[in-house]
Amino acid sequence: MIDVLIVGGGGAGLRAAIAVAETDPALKVAVVSKVYPMRSHTVSAEGGAAAVIGAGDTLDEHCYDTISGGDWLCDQDAVEAFVAEAPRELIQLEHWGCPWSRESDGRVAVRPFGGMKKMRTWYAADKTGFHLLHTLFQTTLKYRDIIRYDEWFVTKLVVDDGRVHGVVAVEIRTGRIETIPARTVILATGGCGKVFPFTTNAAIKTGDGMALAYREGAPLKDMEFVQYHPTGLPFTGILITEAARAEGGWLINKDGYRYLQDYDLGRPTPTPKLRSMELGPRDRLSQAFVHEQHKNRTVDTPYGPVVYLDLRHLGEGKIDSRIPFVRELCRSYQNLDPATDLIPVRPVVHYMMGGVHTDVHGATPIAGLYAAGETACVSINGANRLGSNSLPEILVFGRRAGLAAAEFARSHAGGEAPAARSQGADERRRLERAREGSRHGERIADLRERMQHTLEGAAGIYRTGDVLTKAVDTLAELRERAERVRVDDTSAAFNTELINLQELHAMLEIAQTIVACALNRQESRGAHQRTDFSARDDETYLAHSLVHRAPDGTPSVGLLPVTITRWPPGERVYGRD
Ligand code: FUM
Repeated sequence: MIDVLIVGGGGAGLRAAIAVAETDPALKVAVVSKVYPMRSHTVSAEGGAAAVIGAGDTLDEHCYDTISGGDWLCDQDAVEAFVAEAPRELIQLEHWGCPWSRESDGRVAVRPFGGMKKMRTWYAADKTGFHLLHTLFQTTLKYRDIIRYDEWFVTKLVVDDGRVHGVVAVEIRTGRIETIPARTVILATGGCGKVFPFTTNAAIKTGDGMALAYREGAPLKDMEFVQYHPTGLPFTGILITEAARAEGGWLINKDGYRYLQDYDLGRPTPTPKLRSMELGPRDRLSQAFVHEQHKNRTVDTPYGPVVYLDLRHLGEGKIDSRIPFVRELCRSYQNLDPATDLIPVRPVVHYMMGGVHTDVHGATPIAGLYAAGETACVSINGANRLGSNSLPEILVFGRRAGLAAAEFARSHAGGEAPAARSQGADERRRLERAREGSRHGERIADLRERMQHTLEGAAGIYRTGDVLTKAVDTLAELRERAERVRVDDTSAAFNTELINLQELHAMLEIAQTIVACALNRQESRGAHQRTDFSARDDETYLAHSLVHRAPDGTPSVGLLPVTITRWPPGERVYGRD
């Protein structure tokens, strides 16, 4: 029997696996991932990882930036734990082989990042996630006993009497359906950007872990907070890292004007300093883009309106040494060279602040079930995550979830639960029925596209009650239609249509929670901007949204107070002097 079964082979999952293996080599740990771990989305993180490194910076300042960046919706006990443990995690990564970029005197290099008032973002050029994931993966290889289920897709959690007992999963290569009994399960499947049409997220980011937990009764938290990153390449949505602006890039509109000087990015003075305005928080920068569009100061392209990121003044030397991947991406996907050309960019869905509700150890309300990383909402990101906080988050809370799950497994011995057998058999029958195929009904892709456009229209950068209400109805209808889709592929091996169908069901449920939470929150805070309720309302909504699945399968939203330790709600203030 597996002691700790981790669903997801990205940074959070691998960090959790290492924590379990290190803390007790006698424990049996397994990583189940729908892709080979090195293909996980962590690889796409680019700009860096934040942690206080030395003189001139303090843990309290990192806490404050994170909390004010999150518009006071972060749980401050979680932020304090995160900020305190992040430096140790990044040093640990160094010891495992992560090639952090260096200053000429050998010190670890740091760069500024959006919303951070001090330079504390460690980086490995602009491929930080790639190096971090390689480092974690190669470290897991030291532990021969970590069992890997590569390219297995988990379709169900086995939960009985409020406790998790394992998972049911399909081996994609063969179509074999197995129940894998386990004493504890850690969900680390990443976010759900694919519920939107235009995203930096890989195709695999379909909210699987969130849906698995939600269906078994674990609540999701703060699902209305969807982060748009201000600089995605039009058409592909590929991320052009914030590091490009940290290194001195400018955002200009169609008139060549640095338009951010016209907007309040959260500084007490109306005009931010020119030097730092491109490093305002992501929510404010994405909102500024919409206003530029309304003023007809964006440029129309076949792939939507854009502004430009201007790196030409940085020069080839700096671009090649600090942000070589930006140049590579622009050449490959946009057929331009940022050393000489302007880069067209527009806001793109990047990150979910919400996720499975957990405590500071990653524990969910279901005994033995944990979550970490973007799948989870601890919450350190509140209403708007600061760039470069997500990589240390997966390390700190991946480790914490691993340690907590190991402890739970040690204190809950016992054999396989009868529920694993009965629920496993039911799930097998359900999947086999789906694999029989159906010649009638609509295409999975059509329903997916309709869902994505509904979300973009209703839960984009600006929202309004009327449109959200309509989206509730549309998504309910899409869920019904998804029960009768056409499935052509009846084969067992590599039946990706069957997997896509499971992903569609997961995304539709998650999309419903996003819209329900956005409708319920009648205020504007961080990434959630309601044009019909434009002010922040701490009286009512200094609280997390907590959404449960009601018995009829619809989302039911309540509120949970935010934990405030030392920083009472205040104005958001940004900008480095
Ligand atoms: O722009 C970026 O490199 C993104 C970083 C992040 O989301 O933390």
